[in-house]
Amino acid sequence: MEIWAHRGCSFRHPENTLESFEAAAKLEGLTGIELDVQLAKDGEIVVIHDEKLDRTTTMVGYVKDWAFTDYEKYTKIPSLEQVLTLLKPYMDKGLMLNIELKNSEIRYEGMEQKVMDMVHRFGIADKVIYSSFNSDSTKLIKETDPSTNVACLANDILDCMNDCNFKVHGDAVHPFIRMVNLPKFALEDIKVRVWTKDPLYPREYFMIHHDLRKLESKGIDGIFLNNPEDYLGKF
Ligand code: G3P
Ligand code: CA
Repeated sequence: MEIWAHRGCSFRHPENTLESFEAAAKLEGLTGIELDVQLAKDGEIVVIHDEKLDRTTTMVGYVKDWAFTDYEKYTKIPSLEQVLTLLKPYMDKGLMLNIELKNSEIRYEGMEQKVMDMVHRFGIADKVIYSSFNSDSTKLIKETDPSTNVACLANDILDCMNDCNFKVHGDAVHPFIRMVNLPKFALEDIKVRVWTKDPLYPREYFMIHHDLRKLESKGIDGIFLNNPEDYLGKF
């Protein structure tokens, strides 16, 4: 079973920060790290989940309306370049990276090419999986470079599979964990990685325990976890 760190080790560290990515990268046996990207006002690719800054920073407003120099001064939001610089030595040893383009609400025209160019510049293209809830975006990535590893992302596995087979011609599906109700034989030819809505940092609630063996028996290949450190070595 592939174990992925969702927004880094985001149950014990602030999500999508260098701190949470470093904690994840140091974990032995981790398959990869997932993160979310958007564009700042100056065109810098920044790593943050929400379109607005309010939940995870002391700033307010939209990500697109502030320059990266502002983020450097006032927040822990890293640029993708900073994250790749941190992760490159780990990726050279096999660590994978799932870059989710957060471009469903705000399209961020041209973000696909910018991200792909940076990935190529770092020489890590074979370790990267691209995904997005916006299937026009994943389709564009796959068409631009058919050798890219692209995952179709949606709540429902049927929507993922529909996009994957008929629109994007992707390599994997990333559905929400509770929406996987297909028999194993229906999923044989495609990688299935599930995501959850488990609590993030700070630890306000108890963490849900997922039975990875049961998930594996349903044909699921991987899971994105906020607390991968609690599963590694115990599965
Ligand atoms: O890519 C899987 C998962 O990260 C999608 O949901 O809201 O955490 O970006 P979200
Ligand atoms: Ca994500």
